[in-house]
Amino acid sequence: MYTDQPIHETCLVTGAAGFIGSHLAEALVARGHRVIGVDSFVDFYPRAFKEANLEQLRQSPNFSLVESDLQTANLPKLLTGVDYVFHLAAQAGVRTSWGEGFASYVENNVLATQRLLEAAKQSRVRRVIYASSSSVYGNAAVQPVREDSTTAPISPYGVTKLAAEHLCRLYTTEHGLPTISLRYFTVFGPRQRPDMAFHKFIRAILTGDPIAVYGDGEQSRDFTYVGDIVAANLAAMRLGRPGAWYNLGGGTRVTVNQVLRMLQEIMGKRANVVYQARQFGDAAHTAADTTAARSDLEFAPRFSLEKGLRLEAEWLTELISAPALELA
Ligand SMILES: NC(=O)c1ccc[n+]([C@@H]2O[C@H](COP(=O)([O-])OP(=O)(O)OC[C@H]3O[C@@H](n4cnc5c(N)ncnc54)[C@H](O)[C@@H]3O)[C@@H](O)[C@H]2O)c1
Repeated sequence: MYTDQPIHETCLVTGAAGFIGSHLAEALVARGHRVIGVDSFVDFYPRAFKEANLEQLRQSPNFSLVESDLQTANLPKLLTGVDYVFHLAAQAGVRTSWGEGFASYVENNVLATQRLLEAAKQSRVRRVIYASSSSVYGNAAVQPVREDSTTAPISPYGVTKLAAEHLCRLYTTEHGLPTISLRYFTVFGPRQRPDMAFHKFIRAILTGDPIAVYGDGEQSRDFTYVGDIVAANLAAMRLGRPGAWYNLGGGTRVTVNQVLRMLQEIMGKRANVVYQARQFGDAAHTAADTTAARSDLEFAPRFSLEKGLRLEAEWLTELISAPALELA
């Protein structure tokens, strides 16, 4: 995975221990960049997953990890010599963003982002590439959504992702700091977070536990393989309009019931599905118009849903069989 190429540029990846951040950091190192990862290991899900995500990266001399919270970290020091910032650190998860949980969304998604942008503005960073979300759209009346569709989040999480996106654009227009926001549509693949649907489905199929499906399972999503998200992030280092936001959707829009059928076939096991009430904050359908990303970022998703599901199922099957891990 790691090349002998000379080191090109230095990249800071926030949220590097997480699902997507760890894949991105690996891809950057593999392309000959020096990567500084920063992560505060928020306790949203067990640290053991994040330690497993970092296993390969920790073997590279071109990767270093700073365990620190963006809200308190010495950011000017962290940004010294950094060329590119990939800002993926966030409090993720839609359902837990209601009620008292909201404070941690504001802190980690809005305040931390503002602090990072403020420090980046004073630094020699060439670009800040921000991980935004399809949740900024809410229940859009017209699908697929374009970047100029109305943004009306239906979850507090979506509100914080939208606020951070606006902060990014503000720092571009008002302070000349080049930023790009990438709106990810439901990401899947190896290392997917344990609160996310595919992860829960695969795990339940493996253990024989019931699978809770919220609503009737006919809600649809534009699922995006993590490798395609990584490719778009890499492209955004050189391509894309500063201050812009881009939809990143895999293009395979399917219902939750269809995914469950596909998973049962792939894994050769039956799922024990229990339908439950729809959850507040869950959009009924998401679908991305990716025309802008295709033309500006040369975005061309390569992974089919089936291929990605197979890779995720293989990863989780192996992880769960590792006896030392505390994944509960
Ligand atoms: N997974 C998806 O489907 C999806 C979809 C849309 C957008 N996104 C966005 O992509 C990014 C990565 O998501 P993920 O699924 O990999 O989540 P993740 O929870 O696996 O990774 C996020 C990481 O950020 C770290 N973090 C949180 N607050 C921090 C802070 N204040 N300082 C330092 N580190 C902090 C966490 O410890 C975690 O390891 C997030 O910004 C998320 O909002 C994800």
